Amino acid sequence: MLNENYIEIKDMMCKFADSEVAPLAHDIDHNSKIPDSLKAKMAENGFMGIYIPEEYGGAGMDYMSYSLLIEEVSRACASSGVFLSAHNSLAVWPILTYGTEDQKKKYLPKMASGEYVGCFCLSEPNAGSDPGTLATFAEDKGDHYELSGTKNWITNGGEASIAVVLARTTKSDNHKGITAFIVETKSEGFKVQKLEEKLGIKGSSTAQIHLDKVKVPKENILGEFEKGFKVALSTLDGGRIGIAAQALGIAEAAFRYARQYATERVQFGNPISHLQAIQFKIADMSTKIEASRLLIEKASELKDTKKPYSKEAAQAKLFASEAAMWITTQAIQTLGGNGYSKEYPVERHFRDAKICEIYEGTSEIQRIVIAASEFKSIS
Ligand code: CAA
Repeated sequence: MLNENYIEIKDMMCKFADSEVAPLAHDIDHNSKIPDSLKAKMAENGFMGIYIPEEYGGAGMDYMSYSLLIEEVSRACASSGVFLSAHNSLAVWPILTYGTEDQKKKYLPKMASGEYVGCFCLSEPNAGSDPGTLATFAEDKGDHYELSGTKNWITNGGEASIAVVLARTTKSDNHKGITAFIVETKSEGFKVQKLEEKLGIKGSSTAQIHLDKVKVPKENILGEFEKGFKVALSTLDGGRIGIAAQALGIAEAAFRYARQYATERVQFGNPISHLQAIQFKIADMSTKIEASRLLIEKASELKDTKKPYSKEAAQAKLFASEAAMWITTQAIQTLGGNGYSKEYPVERHFRDAKICEIYEGTSEIQRIVIAASEFKSIS
């Protein structure tokens, strides 16, 4: 359960989300774009560097606070939630954790201020759930590397200044020989090939990136040489808590709308909230939301206290994203025909929920991670 301090933080995030983000959510979805003014406001509030220590210009908060931020912003607008989450979890975190002092001093202050948006380039056309087979190659050119390949499904790829890129430094067909690099997207040969048109989170840019002999100095290797697969998977462990929080925010938004609607919509002479069919839906939605919240809090607390959290992050993401899909479906059902219409927000929540079961590891991958951890615990 959240202590007083976190309740206050959540309240602050909630006020920001309700006043600054929620009024824009419909247009963000409709126009497939988050306004620059909103990104600037989120940066001014410290959300682009929420757990970057103050010495590097960040807000110096912890992962629990970050989870609360993603939940609240996603409740208002899932696109804005994932903009923050991909930047913080997938770009800031690996630089903060694996970066050299010089790398941290060079990149983190600009990432915290919002001047630099970050993205994470792991997936490829032929390497999604199985990233150990990625083909992007980094050729050693003496004092630098030349990176060539194609990266898919890159959240924030359309606007990022900094990319954490995973590339092979030794030719092999498995996870060994992969190195992580910090790449400045203004480098020659770094090209946004296309922006995806998507079912949901339409305001978030999802890009295919083409790297054509992109020159990267050797000092931009992130973490140990050829230990990039660990950098990538540990980054995703934390990212998965953020996606769980995003799913929770989406689910809450749909739940609250459906609950209110049920008290106002009259059929058979009474509000439909008098019908047990609706009451049971509300009860199950509420319970799944509470269970998601507790799993996210548990994973966040383990991460903050530097205990292992890979399994718990996978459990939080698996449960919260499947719950969000179910809850948004039930919210539409509660609203009936109105739920299917773009005049009501629940159809957006339904479209936005689906991606949570896919990105940063599908539900099937989360089950693999959880089962592997369970068997390991008895071996
Ligand atoms: N943290 C650090 N290291 C880890 C790890 C973790 N969580 N899990 C495994 N490893 C290490 C292992 O210890 C092993 O190391 P050694 O070689 O030294 O022994 C190595 O990684 C390989 O381990 P596995 O054999 O278990 O790896 P695998 O290839 O079988 O993969 C997997 C395991 C869980 C399926 C993993 O591949 C996975 O998580 N796949 C999903 C990838 C994913 O989430 N993709 C989404 C991309 S990001 C995105 O969505 C884009 C965006 O912008 C949002």
